[in-house]
Amino acid sequence: MSATPDLEVPACDFTVFGGTGDLALRKLLPGLYERERQRNLHPDTRIIGVSRHALDDAGYRDLVTQALFEHVPEDHLEAGAVHRLTSRLHHLAIDAHAPDGWHQLHGLLKDHPRRTVRGEAPATRVFYLAVGSDLFGPICDRLDDLGLVEADSRVVLEKPIGSDLASSRVVNDAVGRVFEEGQVYRIDHYLGKESVQNLLVTRFANTFLEPVWNSRWVDHVQITVSETLGVGGRGGYYDRAGALRDMVQNHLLQMLCLVAMEPPTYVGGDPVRDEKLKVLRALKPLAGADVHRHTVRGQYTTYAEEIGRQSTTETFVALRAEVQNWRWAGVPFYLRTGKRLARKESTIEVVFKEPPHAMFPHSEGVTTPNRLTIRMQPDEGMQLHLTAKHPGPGGIRMHPASLDLSYDDTFDERSPDAYERLLLDVMRGIPTLFMRRDEVEAAWAWVEPILDQWQRVGIEPVRYHPGTTGPAAAATLLAREGRTWQE
Ligand code: BG6
Repeated sequence: MSATPDLEVPACDFTVFGGTGDLALRKLLPGLYERERQRNLHPDTRIIGVSRHALDDAGYRDLVTQALFEHVPEDHLEAGAVHRLTSRLHHLAIDAHAPDGWHQLHGLLKDHPRRTVRGEAPATRVFYLAVGSDLFGPICDRLDDLGLVEADSRVVLEKPIGSDLASSRVVNDAVGRVFEEGQVYRIDHYLGKESVQNLLVTRFANTFLEPVWNSRWVDHVQITVSETLGVGGRGGYYDRAGALRDMVQNHLLQMLCLVAMEPPTYVGGDPVRDEKLKVLRALKPLAGADVHRHTVRGQYTTYAEEIGRQSTTETFVALRAEVQNWRWAGVPFYLRTGKRLARKESTIEVVFKEPPHAMFPHSEGVTTPNRLTIRMQPDEGMQLHLTAKHPGPGGIRMHPASLDLSYDDTFDERSPDAYERLLLDVMRGIPTLFMRRDEVEAAWAWVEPILDQWQRVGIEPVRYHPGTTGPAAAATLLAREGRTWQE
């Protein structure tokens, strides 16, 4: 799909704003390390970490080395690759709102050896903004003032972009004054997960699913992202965001789009994004009384203690969505996500309808509806749940059975982390797995009335105990309609 093995990765000056932050140290630099290990990075690529810390290049290299030892699996750590990656690193201390440091960045980028000596195609500039979206505009302005943005430069925006529709427009406008839409890569790392991409392949490179992938045969869809960790050191950000903004507005809605979208003309940038946008625009608005009926807000009982103050921010959301179009009319899409739950698990369950007629009058056992489970983590893979005949004489005994596709058992290659794939796609200029502005805004437009209603009538999160599956109300959301979550 997006990673074309033989497509050349150009030389880049890869500048990470937020270069000492949690995301950079936990995901971006380990992701770049894996690419280094596989010799995917161009020899002339440099990585420039930008943060407010007074670190020199050597200090940054030490910090990153430590992070690699912490976050890269032990059997992937190779001294040579660590050395190669850290030799590419530079660090500059810059405060987005202050003048210091910008001229050093200017000097460093202008002096890339390919520009000054060899006269070859210069290194592509990638600016990765792993900082709060309120800083996107000021950073882009400074880059523009310094003349650092060229026609092939790219900017990568981390989510969430804004905190509602109006603020996301302000941010997108500010970025758009400096970068063309085609230069903007809005990252949603769920789109970089192998199993999420495999969902597209399974749907569109096979024929057997398409005839049953609609309201005639599908009873409902469940999308679950459950985490065992709490908010940890991210309390400051998280308490302002909450689960609806942090997870549903982006990751869960993007997965819903991939399940529900029509086949694009081909799997490439705009065709895929056009189809996802149609799904987002077809979501039935949830507002007023529907918000009470179809959403559940939760907060784990130790949250206030963890962040050090009382709060009404939700750490759990469950909701019922509907896609109002010909294919999906009347099919509920149940979404749920939360922190400090029993399991770390991300799955999509497509649950099919019961057979229309019971043909085995003297059978024993139960028939369960067919179900396609797409497991994003752990153990990426897919299962098709069927009813089979238990072997042996004595009449028909029904038994649940499944066809299993486990990535680990089927392929020798390990599945790369989502960021690895996406970072390389940015360098190569492949936009398919990134969100377009109109998608982000359509997602905010759907989510915002829910946030408004919660706030307007003061719907506070219900408490749930860490290590459970969340508030009981989430089970009721489905039970009311005669359904249960697949655990
Ligand atoms: C991030 C959210 O986008 O996704 C985090 O900001 C969340 O709060 C994370 O923990 C989950 O990602 P994954 O890949 O671990 O499921």
